[in-house]
Parts: sequence; C-alpha cells; structure tokens
Amino acid sequence: MEKSILRLPRGLRDFPPEEMAKFSYVENKIRRVLELYGYQEVRTPIFERFDLFALRSGEEIRSRMFVFSTDEGEMALRPEVTAPIARMVATGKLDLSKKPLKIYYIGPCYRYDEPQAGRYREFWQAGVELIGSPYPEADAEVIRLATRVLEELGLEGYVLRIGDMAVIRAFLTQEGVPEEAVNRIIGPLDVLTSSLDKLRMYREKLSEANSGRPLGPDELSDLIRRCDEIRRLKEEELLKMDAGESLIPKAYEGLLEPDPRVYRLKELYEEGSFDEICDVLDKKAEELVVLTKLRWAYYGVEYGPGQTYKMPEEVFDKLMELMSISGPGDEALPALEKLLGRSGQVGQALSRFEEALKALSWFGVEGFTVDMSIVRGLEYYTGTVFEIDFPFLGAQKQVCGGGRYDKLVEEFGGPSLPAVGFAFGVDRLVLALERSGKVPPARPRCDVYVIPISEEVLDYAIRASEQLRSSGLRTEVSLSRRKLREELSIADKLGARLAIIIGPREAEEGKLTVRDLETREQVSLPLKEAIRHVKAALAGGKT
Ligand code: HAM
Repeated sequence: MEKSILRLPRGLRDFPPEEMAKFSYVENKIRRVLELYGYQEVRTPIFERFDLFALRSGEEIRSRMFVFSTDEGEMALRPEVTAPIARMVATGKLDLSKKPLKIYYIGPCYRYDEPQAGRYREFWQAGVELIGSPYPEADAEVIRLATRVLEELGLEGYVLRIGDMAVIRAFLTQEGVPEEAVNRIIGPLDVLTSSLDKLRMYREKLSEANSGRPLGPDELSDLIRRCDEIRRLKEEELLKMDAGESLIPKAYEGLLEPDPRVYRLKELYEEGSFDEICDVLDKKAEELVVLTKLRWAYYGVEYGPGQTYKMPEEVFDKLMELMSISGPGDEALPALEKLLGRSGQVGQALSRFEEALKALSWFGVEGFTVDMSIVRGLEYYTGTVFEIDFPFLGAQKQVCGGGRYDKLVEEFGGPSLPAVGFAFGVDRLVLALERSGKVPPARPRCDVYVIPISEEVLDYAIRASEQLRSSGLRTEVSLSRRKLREELSIADKLGARLAIIIGPREAEEGKLTVRDLETREQVSLPLKEAIRHVKAALAGGKT
C-alpha cells in the first residue's frame, strides 16, 4: 500500500481523546455563557452552494475555498457560518416573532489558506448572531459575550479592538466611490491592513530582541513570504513598464527599484542582523501602500462587467489617514471628527459609533482600543466591527472577529433585518489556553474499574457495573479477562480512583469489594452501601 494515502492533507488534524477533552472544555464554557444570555444553538450543513458565499465577495473568494461540482451545480465547504445563518433567516426557517433572534453555532469550517501554526484548512468556529436589533446596545451585548467567554476561560491579556465600517463606507461614499466598488475595495483593504499589521508585529519583535530567535519558524517563513510577495508585485509592474504596458506613470519607476536584501532575509536573520531586517520591513510596508495606491489610481478596481473605479491618489491618502486612527475612545473619536467633519452620512455614522462605545460601558466592557484599520475581509459588514487578539499567539493571534451586517439577510431575499455577530476560532482558544497554562487536568476515563476475577463471575460483575452506572458512577468493567495484578495496574493507568474486585465469594454473598487505589484499603459491602461508599470516596472523603 502506498504510504502517502495515509498522510493527512495539509492543514488537517486528528484529535485524540486528550485533544478532544480540551475542545469539549472550551465548547462547554462557550455554551454555558451564551445560554446565560439567552442564545440558542443551531446547525447548518457543512457545504452549501458556492454562490451563497460568493454573492458578497465575488469570484476572488473561489481560490480561498474548497469548491466542487455536483449534479446540482457548484458547492463549497463552508468557510464561515454567518452567510448560512442569513440564508436560514431569509428562507423563513426561524421564528421571527421572537425577534431579535439570538443564535449560536459551534462547528467546523474550511478555508483553502496556507497552513501554519494556528491556521488550518479545517478549523472550528463558535459564533453568535443577534438578528433583528439595529440598536447600539445589541452591538455592545455581542462584544460583551465575547469578552465574557474569555473571562470564563480564565484567559488574560487579550486585546480588543473596535472599528466601524459605516464610518469607512460613509467616507468612501462621500468621496464619490460607487457602492458596489466600495464592496470590492473592502476585501483588498483588509488584506493590506492585515499585511501591514503582520509586518509591524515582526518588526516590533525583532527590534525588541538583541539576539536569539525572536520569531518562530512559521513567523519567519511568513515574513519572508510577505516580503517576497511585495517584491513580486513590484517586479511585475517594472516588467510591464519596460514593455510599455504599465498604466502607472513612468515617474514612479524609482519606487519600483528592486531591493536585493529580500533574497537574504533568512541569512540576515541567522546572523542576527535584526536592524537590517527592520529596515527591509519598513521599506516593504511603505512599498505595499504605494503599490496599492498606484494600482487603484491607474488600473482601478473592477466592480461589475466593464465597470472600473479609479481612486484619486488624494482619496487613498485620506483613507489611509482615516485607517491609521487608533487609541482610546476619548482620543480617537475627536480625531475622527477632526479628519472627517460631522455632516451628512459620515456624521450619522460617527454618532452611531459613539453610542455603541458608550453602550459597552453599560456592560462593563472597558480597556478596548478604537482602531479604524479594522476593515474585516468578509464584505458584508456595515457598522461596528471588532477583533480580539492574543498577541502571544504570534502571527495567528486573532481569536475572535465580528461586527454588524445590516443588509445580508435582505440581500438573500429575506426581510430587512439588521444583525450583528462574531465567531471565535475554537482551535486558537485552545492554543491560548495551552500557552497560558490554563488547560484543566484531563478527566480520567472512568472513576470506578470493575474487575471480575474469573469467568464465572462475569455475569454478576457486569450486572453490578450496570447498576453503578445507573447510580451515575462512571464505571468500566474489564473486558480483557486478565490476571488481578495486571487489572489493578490497568485501573491505575486509567486514572480510576477505585477498583471493585469481584470473586465467587462476592457473587455468592451479593457484595462488592471496593478497593481504594491510593490507600489500597479494601472493604466488602452490599451493592447499595458500596455505591454510597464509592460516592463518598469520590467526593473527597477517605474510604
Ligand atoms: P473571521 O474573522 O473570518 O469571521 O473568522 C472568525 C475566527 O475564526 C477568526 O478570528 C479566527 O480565530 C478563526 N479562523 C479563521 N480562519 C482560520 C483558520 N484558517 N484556522 C484557524 N482559525 C481560523 C467570520 O468568519 C465571521 N463569520 C464572524 C461573524 C459572525 N461576523 C458576524 N457574525
């Protein structure tokens, strides 16, 4: 047999019981918090029609999903669950008389991402959707749910950043960008800001370290990949310029000059030339911004058949300025007002944003940062957007993302229903627990291990085990017919607290011999008393 058929595809994992226990622990905590706030669980299929996911994002999304054909047309494994929930609402599957709907889900999602630590092709999301309330207190409740889950898990050191897509959208509309073009700009903007954020993060780590290995192997390859991608984009443009095919004016040629240091990043890292790498990172970040600006200004953004929007350079510059606003609310809001003014749609969006931030304080959510660079890749967001990071997780530090999407249900042909929600990456929460040393000790497979010492007493031992289970005791009965000594050592290995040894005398007298595996003390008791005795021992008393 070919060995390769046994190899898991990249980005997929198996979960042995010890791993599953961590996932169940996290999922149970999430369920408990969400139900405390009145949210109800739903489930949607693992795959749906490709168009459901592409409607908002366009064809580009294809390369980031697992797409396959069936007799009913093209399907995609779900990359997320918000669009399926919006479909469920739009097609009348949920009782709208209970508006706002409060829904949650926990399940696998699939993205054709480049796998690395914390980024998988199959991963688990736990999310909520609050559908039917346009009010800022709904945004605030959803954000509070997310922070409460983290509190329940005992996870500290998270960074909550909040932005607002309505402000960004209103700004772009005010500058004359057609609405459909705005939708097509959001995705690439997210890629741009996430790239800048990653480059900045690597720069910080490198500039704080004098020696050693400040980056993990995945981080170093991600850094190199990102820099190389910018080099490739520049080179492509330069080649076009040389062939006279570039739409970018020749005057910008100097900006596209190659920088041979990109080829030596690994070497520079190994010899500890971190300052040099920081310099490369600064240049790459700058180049990425300029390249995007020039491409949008001279090639434009396609937003429909034969329709292209060319963004004037000064609009792009102002957009960058807007997105660079970050800080505590009482600093960021005045800065936003200063940059954008307070009239028309922009003014309304700013007031709404302010109200959402105020409502957060009613829920006791504090210590967040307003960060206008959060644009979120999924293009359905229309208002408040937020992300939660654990910086110690490195490149894949984002454990939660969400926001308001007021048009999606309507776009799917349903009623006009404003909505807000988020999703946690459960895998990343598990990683955060592991890194913080907060994984609870694994629960043993059973509490009581029943050992029939010979074949004749199997009947009695198994019947007794069934009664122990009926009384709520987690009980295993040996199915291996081993010698008593071996059975006792297995009981120990399984982590059982007590063994119950059954021989012909116990069977005859209708008793059970309970052995404390720690103290090795034994007592022989009738069934009912034995159960009481076992329960007392498990509750912490000595036997
Ligand atoms: P998202 O930010 O794309 O939002 O994904 C939510 C979370 O899923 C991320 O914060 C991250 O923790 C996790 N995640 C994403 N991709 C991967 C991956 N390849 N490997 C491991 N974890 C990953 C959404 O999906 C929206 N539907 C959230 C939402 C709900 N917005 C409104 N309602």
